[in-house]
Amino acid sequence: MEERTAQFIEIFGESREQLRSFFAPGRVNMIGEHIDYNGGHVLPVALEIGTYAITRKRSDKKLKLYSSNFPDIGIIETNLEDLSFKKDQDWANFPIGVFKYMEAENGYEHGLDIFFEGNIPNGAGLSSSASIELVTAVLVNEIYQFGASMLDLVKLSQNVENQFIGVNCGIMDQFAVGFGKQGNAILLDCETLEYRYTPFELTDSAIVIANTNKKRGLADSAYNERRSTCEAALEKLQQELPISNLADMSPEQFEEHKGLLSEEEVKRVRHVVTENHRTVKAIEILEQGNLDAFGELMKASHLSLRDDYEVSGKELDALAEAAWDQEGTVGARMTGAGFGGCTVNIVKNEHVDAFIEQVGKKYKDKIGYEATFYIVNAGGGAREITASKE
Ligand code: GLA
Repeated sequence: MEERTAQFIEIFGESREQLRSFFAPGRVNMIGEHIDYNGGHVLPVALEIGTYAITRKRSDKKLKLYSSNFPDIGIIETNLEDLSFKKDQDWANFPIGVFKYMEAENGYEHGLDIFFEGNIPNGAGLSSSASIELVTAVLVNEIYQFGASMLDLVKLSQNVENQFIGVNCGIMDQFAVGFGKQGNAILLDCETLEYRYTPFELTDSAIVIANTNKKRGLADSAYNERRSTCEAALEKLQQELPISNLADMSPEQFEEHKGLLSEEEVKRVRHVVTENHRTVKAIEILEQGNLDAFGELMKASHLSLRDDYEVSGKELDALAEAAWDQEGTVGARMTGAGFGGCTVNIVKNEHVDAFIEQVGKKYKDKIGYEATFYIVNAGGGAREITASKE
């Protein structure tokens, strides 16, 4: 923390005002992919990597934002009485959007200087945007004492992403980042927002994230396209079924009514229905301590995302296939939106080094550039931190 404080002073100068520090994690989803916006169940884990924010009160109504991840951009300055999306605000549109959506009726009493630093690999699909949204939301809530609940902050951050940034994501990422709990995964029903924690501290195995290093933009039209295909399919199915979302259907109901759908819709909806089923089963299995069976479901999830939902790609497939062939792999699948980004793997401790070496080599041989590997743990959610508790 000391180094970040020193950097803060270097950027914004000395002052007698107190500094306060906040943190929000990134997330990795273990299973339940592309079903949050279809009212399904998801099983994300918050990470120990994430976004730090240090802030100090200003006497005027300016908002001055700096990120050590983008030093060339320098300080982005805006006025709290005039918050709007501007292209040249670049990364700072995320916190600015949060300030805009959090604004109390009477506006903000004073401005802030904020220094951000993130250690989530950029473009990896580990929710760096939800992380910066939530770290800002918790900061604003605490500094201005708005008294909003974590669920309010999560929903608000999703609105920022949907409306201010223009990415039509579901609620999983913001929820995982807000509600993460050390050593636990979160089982979330995205229809009711009911959730519970389940211990996810693997003693004999490690969670290994493998990054394809293929850049992907969530704003990619493919994500929004999948959403509209699902919406169109839901409307058709509702002519015969009293369902409010696709994940409400049992696999049997789906088989019975799929004649209403186009060939493409059949594939997309089959993914949604089977993935939701897998996720509910996965948590039961996990709680019985059967990690191998959990790993089988991870593989089935990947195959469904590859063949039915068609959001994988040659890079993610190369990493998953190499992992399945590797000794000591309990489970492996793509995670997040897809089209690039990362796979998540559960690997027996004694095989982790060989896994990284062998999967890395096979990937490089096939794709032509390197993958990056991270061993991660389940961490806590968005919060204020002090140097000693960090
Ligand atoms: C992205 C979105 C999430 C979710 C996943 C796919 O991470 O932000 O809402 O849809 O993709 O499961």
